[in-house]
Amino acid sequence: MGIKATNIVWQQTNVSRQDREKLLRQKGILIWFTGLSGSGKSTVATMLEKKLHDMGKLTYLLDGDNVRHGLNSDLGFSIEDRIENIRRIAELSKLFVDSGVITITTFISPFIKDREAVKELLKDDFIEVYVDCPIEVCEKRDPKGIYKKARKGEIKNFTGIDSPYEPPVNPEITVKTHIDSLEECVSKIIDYLELK
Ligand SMILES: Nc1ncnc2c1ncn2[C@@H]1O[C@H](COP(=O)(O)OP(=O)(O)O)[C@@H](O)[C@H]1O
Ligand SMILES: [Mg+2]
Repeated sequence: MGIKATNIVWQQTNVSRQDREKLLRQKGILIWFTGLSGSGKSTVATMLEKKLHDMGKLTYLLDGDNVRHGLNSDLGFSIEDRIENIRRIAELSKLFVDSGVITITTFISPFIKDREAVKELLKDDFIEVYVDCPIEVCEKRDPKGIYKKARKGEIKNFTGIDSPYEPPVNPEITVKTHIDSLEECVSKIIDYLELK
């Protein structure tokens, strides 16, 4: 992505990421959930965040729908808007990680290319969590009733129905919410973080 403005110079600051991380006694990291609607991203992430918080960690959860209420309220679900949605979230997450926060995002983020762009931006600070669950199970759960609407043709470009979902090729973590319990899914992520 190029820069439109001219005559801008990066301003150096006196407090570094390392300083903030020392103060917080933790490392900033981005835990990026990806998966179909209803796969369990928000459910797993919400419990993960609570566990980390109870462990004394400073966290921030950026949830798909919430971001679309504010920062990205001007964006829809066309291909271009989805790309811009993820680009802004990646930049925002980068600032959070730089502030030392354990940042958690829950966006369908269906395209490999977009998630690779996030990884490109965050480098080793990016942990991809694939919330793996067959679409039949997601559709049966349908916690927001949106599959029903999508089947009726009331929602266009719905991931898994008339818009593709590209599963991660090499995610750091995979949780299978149709097989493992919520607690098991969360533990798997905590174990990985402790190892790291
Ligand atoms: N092991 C599990 N992990 C996470 N969610 C589960 C699990 N088993 C069943 N569910 C249910 O699946 C649904 C997932 O919805 P949600 O977390 O909103 O999905 P998403 O954020 O991916 O759209 C919830 O109703 C949740 O209770
Ligand atoms: Mg969600």
